[in-house]
Amino acid sequence: MQDFDYLKPDDVYLDAACQSLRPRPVIDALNRYYTEHNSCGERVKYAWGQTTDSLVEETRTKLLKYLKLKSRDYFVSFTLNTTYGINLILAQLPPNRFQKVITSDIEHNSPFLATIAYARQHDLPREVLSRNEDGSLPLDADYTNALVVVNVVSNIDGRTLTNLKDLVKTVHKQHGIIILDAAQALAHNSDLLHKTDADALCSSAHKAYGASLGVIVARRELIKILEPNIIGGGMVDDVDRDRFQLSAQSADHIYTRFEPGLQAWGEIIAFGAALDWLTRLPRAAHESLAHHSETLYDFLSNHPKVSLLNHAPTPTQSFYIDGLDSHLVGDSLSDQGVMARTGYFCVHYYLDHVMHYPPLIRFSLGYHTRASDIEKTIALLERMLG
Ligand SMILES: Cc1ncc(COP(=O)(O)O)c(C=O)c1O
Repeated sequence: MQDFDYLKPDDVYLDAACQSLRPRPVIDALNRYYTEHNSCGERVKYAWGQTTDSLVEETRTKLLKYLKLKSRDYFVSFTLNTTYGINLILAQLPPNRFQKVITSDIEHNSPFLATIAYARQHDLPREVLSRNEDGSLPLDADYTNALVVVNVVSNIDGRTLTNLKDLVKTVHKQHGIIILDAAQALAHNSDLLHKTDADALCSSAHKAYGASLGVIVARRELIKILEPNIIGGGMVDDVDRDRFQLSAQSADHIYTRFEPGLQAWGEIIAFGAALDWLTRLPRAAHESLAHHSETLYDFLSNHPKVSLLNHAPTPTQSFYIDGLDSHLVGDSLSDQGVMARTGYFCVHYYLDHVMHYPPLIRFSLGYHTRASDIEKTIALLERMLG
């Protein structure tokens, strides 16, 4: 694709689940910020700052539109990454609101560890529910007054939370709160998030073709029960010797609640460019990604020496090869310019302790992936497998 024209023919980047390659318009937007209007947002009156403010505001609006959410119900804050977003919300949730904490077995360490820490800190029981093969969670579990933190798309095999809408309804009916880890959902499965009724979602722009940045989309109602903790510059309307008034009390500045200190203005603006880019992608780009995922899946799922974890040809596929050390396979692929991940991809509990898999190899594709990338990868694996 033209927008990845910097990608050399021999470089095969198969680690998009970690960080997308950034398309030119996103890199250009970031460059424009640094070269044309480098300035503080939210604080300055000069022209560069006004340009920054209006582009940052546009990104908030674009994200809500991308997710088909209303600004009447939700607001957008920027942060470091998904992990930081989840921890920031949990750190502010009053524990006396909950009877238990619930997560699932295929979670990334990001929500997995954060829920362990929250439960431990507040002496709450924690349940780890098993996800079904289709990615759904049981609706007959007891979600009474539960704090639920689960992913929408898995970073192991692209499995999706197929009953997300029903789950949110069930949790809310039982007076629980549900926070979504949408790190893997924003780029290739955003339809699952459309009109979500969840209390909050956390994601990473760097996994959705944007620059390095985290994002929190939260219900305006949620703020009423949060207890502010990380606070400082950029968040207050008034400060006296021993008291302060948070700007988040006003509906227009509610997002400042999760934005202590100076923000990554250039990255926020570049994320707006990424959302524009994703929204305007031609059908051919989606078809091509689906086609490459299928070609890879057909090879991996049919080879007798390959144990593939996927049950469907998603862009993220994990496997191991009988008799071959995955890390050595990764090294060997790397020698030929194929960049893949090996190990447990921050899902240690499920992959290592539940399934007892050996370290794995993960190929994760993106809109930058070319037919030649897949052909080369398959040819190298065929040679290795004998
Ligand atoms: C499903 C999932 N959740 C959370 C994360 C954490 O994202 P970040 O490192 O951007 O905080 C990842 C990263 O790979 C992920 O795949």
